[in-house]
Amino acid sequence: MSDLEVAFDKYKKEYGHSDWTDEENAAQFNKFANTMSMTDATTAAQEGGSESSPSLQSQSLTGTMESIEGRLSSRSTENITRSFAGLGVQTASTRTAAANDEDVDTGMTKSFLERRQEMFEKLVEKYPTKFGKLVSQKDRVDMLDAPATLTYGEIEFESFGVAFSKIKRMYGMPGIGTTPPSGIMQAPGGKFYDLGSGTGKPAIAAAYLHPFDLVAGVEILPGLHSSSLELAALFRSEGLAALAADGQPQATHIEFTLGDAFDLGVADWSDGDVVFANSTCFSDSLMGRFASAAEHLKKGAIVITFTKRLPSPAFTVLDGKVYKMSWGGATVYIQQKLTDPPASRIP
Ligand SMILES: C[S@@+](CC[C@H](N)C(=O)[O-])C[C@H]1O[C@@H](n2cnc3c(N)ncnc32)[C@H](O)[C@@H]1O
Repeated sequence: MSDLEVAFDKYKKEYGHSDWTDEENAAQFNKFANTMSMTDATTAAQEGGSESSPSLQSQSLTGTMESIEGRLSSRSTENITRSFAGLGVQTASTRTAAANDEDVDTGMTKSFLERRQEMFEKLVEKYPTKFGKLVSQKDRVDMLDAPATLTYGEIEFESFGVAFSKIKRMYGMPGIGTTPPSGIMQAPGGKFYDLGSGTGKPAIAAAYLHPFDLVAGVEILPGLHSSSLELAALFRSEGLAALAADGQPQATHIEFTLGDAFDLGVADWSDGDVVFANSTCFSDSLMGRFASAAEHLKKGAIVITFTKRLPSPAFTVLDGKVYKMSWGGATVYIQQKLTDPPASRIP
């Protein structure tokens, strides 16, 4: 059986109506494909250069829906399988639908996420978002002509948790997309990097969500970098002990570097399993530099960006949904490296 046939089988067992024909259950299954098409639509809108344009989004959505509707018009399971494969829709999409709050398989249960959020918030309580904003503003007045790419904002733990759950329970599974046989975030270990790390909260949130070997960040503004060093010290002295008491004994290493995150000579993050950038305010040229550096990541590595996707054919968008951030809603893109890194080393 192909992956998609397995997925349909699983769908039928968990959600299917026993008194329906295969064709009727298959029609319901199609609706999951349409849900997935939201991702394509958001991506298409972004390609059009205006993430927030509702008319563009709804046009793209309608177009995508229509094309999927057309391609999935046949109701036989076999044809659905072929249509899904043709669309490049991941088998994992059915797992999204099947996942519930108590995802025991991955350990990312609702109670786990709530507990870790509470621990995270306690650790960072002396560093509220407004503190990061003030430090960033001070750093920027000290510069001449500070670019808009330095605008400050922070992740919300909850939204980050959703993205990580998706990687754990879907995109990081071996056999999904280009994920390597060992998987991504399927076992303790791995490396997480935050590019433009601010006061360092995403690296700490990452450590609270998965027992990485290393969580690290690179920040160009010195005041923010100093604050991230303080938070790293707090994480080592209090965070690790709290995690150990909560059943996560892994002594995740944490480090922050001052400098340009998109110069791999400053900090080499090409060994990352999960790389993140809160890129809403990044310019096209900065995204271009990000994409060039990201070509050095291994095949299967996951890159999470906000609002803007990586402008590179070496990556595919697995997911793109809007989540709440400190400044409002932002599309969270989960992308995966399709290709091996070039043989040539980093300059
Ligand atoms: C929106 S903030 C995100 C802060 C943090 N990552 C978070 O999500 O909570 C973006 C950060 O990227 C930093 N930044 C922008 N360009 C950068 C570059 N070339 N290298 C390193 N940091 C950069 C900014 O100074 C800012 O702190």
